[in-house]
Amino acid sequence: MLWDAATWRTAPPRTHQMRDCHDFAGPWADDLERYGICFFSGTTEADLDSLATSIGPLLNTEFGDHIVVRAEPGTSDLALTARDLSPHTDFSAHMHTAPLLQFILCLEQRATGGDSIQVDGFRIANELRRTHPECFDLLARTPLGFQQFYANSRYFFRRTRPIIELDRDGEVSGVFFAHSHASGWRLAPREVDDVYQAYNTFFAMTKDPAYQLRTRMQEGDCVAFRNGRILHGRTAFDPHSGRRTLVDVFVAYDYFDARRNYLRYADTYLSAIEPTGTH
Ligand SMILES: [Fe+2]
Repeated sequence: MLWDAATWRTAPPRTHQMRDCHDFAGPWADDLERYGICFFSGTTEADLDSLATSIGPLLNTEFGDHIVVRAEPGTSDLALTARDLSPHTDFSAHMHTAPLLQFILCLEQRATGGDSIQVDGFRIANELRRTHPECFDLLARTPLGFQQFYANSRYFFRRTRPIIELDRDGEVSGVFFAHSHASGWRLAPREVDDVYQAYNTFFAMTKDPAYQLRTRMQEGDCVAFRNGRILHGRTAFDPHSGRRTLVDVFVAYDYFDARRNYLRYADTYLSAIEPTGTH
């Protein structure tokens, strides 16, 4: 189900106790599959590790398998400043990283500002298709560059692909977008005006409060979402007013899908291979 701000005004999202969430047929997994996002409260790092590793192995990144996000003086990484982050998907500059299930756990929230923002990328892509079909078509077929340069770890990630991914039926199956990494575009001169207009129309929709869910995470709150559908961001915060610390954990989304498929089809497959008689 696609959602926007109005969806949650009429029915605020449910929150789940993560330490009770072990059953992949449970309400938390239903929410995640249905909305691309689900919310937990009262979560410890141990709860997060237990649930995430029960789904599949954690993604080991250049920052480790737990990425701590807090304001760090002198950083060149935008996420580690106190500035606002416009809604984006992570790993948008990576060419080969699989679609991910992303967890963000709030460990400390004592700063002024720093509200969380989520946007359903499928919702705005489909709205763009309805209201600006020519923009939608351009973003679905024009490869655009996203790049991320890390001086400390000496990586320069570069990805060129359309922002909107379609499946073979023409339905939206992926949204990959991070404005701060948009770079290295190679467009024919005749394409430039139209592609920039399409890009700016999409970018404006990601920042439109009508499509945003805004929440203020408290310590122990956790959100899980499908990176590649759900965009996330934050408002700016004052690092001198108190600490704000989040931790990111990722699992390949395939593992979540595969658990759900197993629950749906295991009886059929297991009964097919059980002996039906004796000799
Ligand atoms: Fe991010």
